[in-house]
Amino acid sequence: MTTITARAMGQALSRVDGPAKVRGHAPYAFEQPVDRPVYLYPVEAAITVGRITGIDCSHASAQPGVLGVLTHLNAARTSAGASGELGILQSDQVAFRNQFVGAVLAETSEIARYAAGLVRVDYEARPHDVVFDAGRRDLYKPEQLAPSFPMDTDKGDVDAALSSAPFALDQGYTTPRYHHNPLEPHSTIAVWADGHFTLHMSTQGVHVARACLAQVFDLDPDRIRIIAPYVGGAFGSKVQPRADAVLAMLAARMVPGRPVKFQLTRQQTFSQTGYRPPTVQRVQLGADRDGRLLAVAHSCTAPTARIQEFAEHSTRSTPTLYATPNLRTRQRLAKLDISTPSIMRAPGEASGMFAVESAMDEMAIACGVDPVEFRIRNDTDTHPLTGLPFSSRNLAGCMREGARRFGWDQRDPTPRARRSQGWLVGTGVATALYSVFRLPGSASIQAHPDGRYTVSIGAADIGTGTWTALAQVAADALGVDLTQVELQIGDTNYPCASEAAASSGITSWGAAICEAADQLRHALADQPGGQLPPQGLTITADMPENPYLQQYSMHSFGAQFAEVRINEFTGEIRVPRQLGVFAVGRIVNPRTARSQLLGGMTWGLSMALHEHGALDPRFGATVNQDLATYHVASNADVGNVEVHWLDEYDPYVNPMGTKGIGEIGMVSAAAAIANAVHHATGIRVRDLPITLDKLL
Ligand code: MOS
Repeated sequence: MTTITARAMGQALSRVDGPAKVRGHAPYAFEQPVDRPVYLYPVEAAITVGRITGIDCSHASAQPGVLGVLTHLNAARTSAGASGELGILQSDQVAFRNQFVGAVLAETSEIARYAAGLVRVDYEARPHDVVFDAGRRDLYKPEQLAPSFPMDTDKGDVDAALSSAPFALDQGYTTPRYHHNPLEPHSTIAVWADGHFTLHMSTQGVHVARACLAQVFDLDPDRIRIIAPYVGGAFGSKVQPRADAVLAMLAARMVPGRPVKFQLTRQQTFSQTGYRPPTVQRVQLGADRDGRLLAVAHSCTAPTARIQEFAEHSTRSTPTLYATPNLRTRQRLAKLDISTPSIMRAPGEASGMFAVESAMDEMAIACGVDPVEFRIRNDTDTHPLTGLPFSSRNLAGCMREGARRFGWDQRDPTPRARRSQGWLVGTGVATALYSVFRLPGSASIQAHPDGRYTVSIGAADIGTGTWTALAQVAADALGVDLTQVELQIGDTNYPCASEAAASSGITSWGAAICEAADQLRHALADQPGGQLPPQGLTITADMPENPYLQQYSMHSFGAQFAEVRINEFTGEIRVPRQLGVFAVGRIVNPRTARSQLLGGMTWGLSMALHEHGALDPRFGATVNQDLATYHVASNADVGNVEVHWLDEYDPYVNPMGTKGIGEIGMVSAAAAIANAVHHATGIRVRDLPITLDKLL
């Protein structure tokens, strides 16, 4: 693999889109200026499961300013049929509470919303099944989601090892429902004209969204253009288009030539945009007298939607963590009459590693080994399941550097032994891990005679800093100054790219850009005299295969530390200090990288102490569906968050030496806090969130 020299990479540049953002010149989808907009407001199912027996639109239609009412009776047929999350308005069936059953189109958003309330829908409800518990008889093994990560894994004889291990642990852990709350709710502006759709859409990937919607509407992808230069946050909920985009497109078909604007309300995002499903997990560990693991077993059960399967793959990374001769993971689901769960930042690891890293803390204590030392002692040079060496693995380095910076050597391991003015003080640690993903795509580079380069790729900036970091990669790939590079992203008119997901953006897009730069150099060398022709030169290249994928196991690593203070009398929990040290390959931009990791750690704090979607068993929907009742960590909750990384360069992943930083900051931050809570209080909380009632 060719490697590129870092000149622009490594600079802590401010965001190139920063000035436009603060001046209001960087519009999100709903803010794109359009002529004669039509506003859409949805009608949501008022039952959980059943069928629609009648719809009366007459009152709604009679309102001045109403342009039409969309129902399953007049909506265009799509190829989604009546199945799946996107199969809306295709039949009289209702599959979950709040599913879209109609929409009103009007001249203003106020009229649309008012008239939607006038649409009368009659239902015949059937009994529903929405309550999950791990003892259900209908648990089943889901389809394998990612080829390299099987749902079930087995190595050695876990049960035999556990029964003879000097130290053995068998514990249950649970995590609740977590909901997506990006700054910008899901939004679409859809125009249908001359047999083409133009969409301004809040998405993590314009091409992925287009491929999906082209299939739903049975159109050649060339007849859909999606534009998304700026996205106000997205953490998995915008990887695939949601029903809101389909509804906007169905509506656009009713009013050809006019742009239909649809933005979900904050409440609607709770039922329409996916969520991390709750998990019930079991971890079994066995260790010898030296504190070396003899067995690791991890199982996870979770609910999924009857209409569409999703597995929160909580056991995915467990086999990668530590050396062990015996290993077993199991993943099971139950289908319920609920809206579709889906991916959320570190899908699998965020929930799964809370359980495993809590259990590791319990086992370290049982063995009488310091929790940092326990993890280092069980470190491994080769993947415990595949036997492959790691492309780079610096877990022990992260642990040591973190312990040094955090002041871990001062720590007295005794629980409930430190008090400061009525507060119990404790510290905890946990291992973070996230795998390297690489998604195919392409990029083009146009060399201009004046020395400028236009780099085009359908990549996304979901607020993470792609505009800046990818330009830095492109400048180094071309070996030119950053000022010579003009980047174009966020439009299906640019070469087909993967989505901003699975921490794979820079890895995948950057590899495609490096390939295009390489090919451009060769093409230039072939020109007469090595001179650029007067009209310039354009090269489009695909991300090449990576031969090292079969030879190395590729992952990012980290160590999470936390200090907590628990009020002895009220149980109030404070987290004055979080510290993370990561080994994530080369850092392209220290400023935006720090923000990503810090944001992840903050979300981990939110997961540890606050977030909890409460499902109402009578309706099968989340009750606390707004930011007043669904608590997320806010400024006052966040203490001093320190982000560090090791100076690492991974030569096997891509020409930049990067490994991905989008999700690992969140992984195990909650476990570090839970472990610190145990150190402070002697109370082991195995069910998130850690609320004060659990500490009294
Ligand atoms: Mo990320 S949860 O793959 O958007």
